[in-house]
Amino acid sequence: MNDLNEKILRLKEQRNALIIAHNYQRDEVQAIADMTGDSLELSRKAASTSCDVIVFCGVNFMAESASILSPDKVVLLSAFDAFCPMAEMISAGSHRELYGAFPGYNDPPKYVYPVEYSLRDIKRDYPGVPVVAYVNTTAEVKADSDICCTSANVVEVIESLPDERVICVPDKNLSAWAAKNTKKEIISWDGYCHVHDRVRPMDVEKARKSYPDAMFMAHPECRLDILEMADSVASTSGMLRFAANSSAKKFIVGTEIGLLYRLRKENPDKVFYPLRKDMVCPNMKKTTLDSVYLALKEMKNVIKVSDEIREPAWKALSRMISL
Ligand code: 13P
Ligand code: SF4
Repeated sequence: MNDLNEKILRLKEQRNALIIAHNYQRDEVQAIADMTGDSLELSRKAASTSCDVIVFCGVNFMAESASILSPDKVVLLSAFDAFCPMAEMISAGSHRELYGAFPGYNDPPKYVYPVEYSLRDIKRDYPGVPVVAYVNTTAEVKADSDICCTSANVVEVIESLPDERVICVPDKNLSAWAAKNTKKEIISWDGYCHVHDRVRPMDVEKARKSYPDAMFMAHPECRLDILEMADSVASTSGMLRFAANSSAKKFIVGTEIGLLYRLRKENPDKVFYPLRKDMVCPNMKKTTLDSVYLALKEMKNVIKVSDEIREPAWKALSRMISL
């Protein structure tokens, strides 16, 4: 083990901290983490442990979810400027003012999308229609939503509501996938993940031609025409399960390339090919071993969601978790 890894592990002991890393993190960050997984899985597991400090290696909405579910723990975001462009494509309508209320979070990362039409506006335009918020949203958006969903349970969440019409935010691709799998009417926000949305049918055709005996797995943040070409449509955790349980030996992986680390580690007898080598989320790669070390050493980059936002956001998350 090298020096930096040792220093991180020593500090982790001293602080009674838990290092958790999303499946898209750099290999060396995943290697040092106590847990890897999808965003919600990580926050739920962290909430159930007795640590005092959670070091979240991911993007800011994930650390916010950890803070919502673990209000008594100190949550550190290892790369403070790591954010999800898709989550920033929708605002609650008032959150820009509210950011100032977050201790240690007074200079939030800003994204270039104009914030003209907000969640508040779409709710006004469709009165009484419930809002399903993908976990890839800010705490404020969750707070103004009826229930959260993940890429794995979006259809189940929609079906759990008594209403025939549902507003889904912020991912238009996840909404299209949900609309295909439910009879309910979906009113969708127009956001997207730039890493998944860039995939085109010719990428799949090319990969299928190169690896004719491989199964193709696609994340629901890809466009619907891509999902219709897949052997399995799954979240990152779903892909890990699919690859482990399948009798196939080769897989084309239609998601961010960070997932290849775990796929290969957990299935040494199988072969995994990235669908496109440029499926890289720059924000996920902002976390490095140095940033983990510094966050822990200086106890900096604290993410704390204010009670005013936390309570309604917790309700939306808990309603999903209790399904
Ligand atoms: P999951 O790990 O929940 O599938 O999320 C994908 C993603 O893009 C997270 O930012
Ligand atoms: Fe957001 Fe996409 Fe990056 Fe996930 S991979 S954090 S959805 S931009």
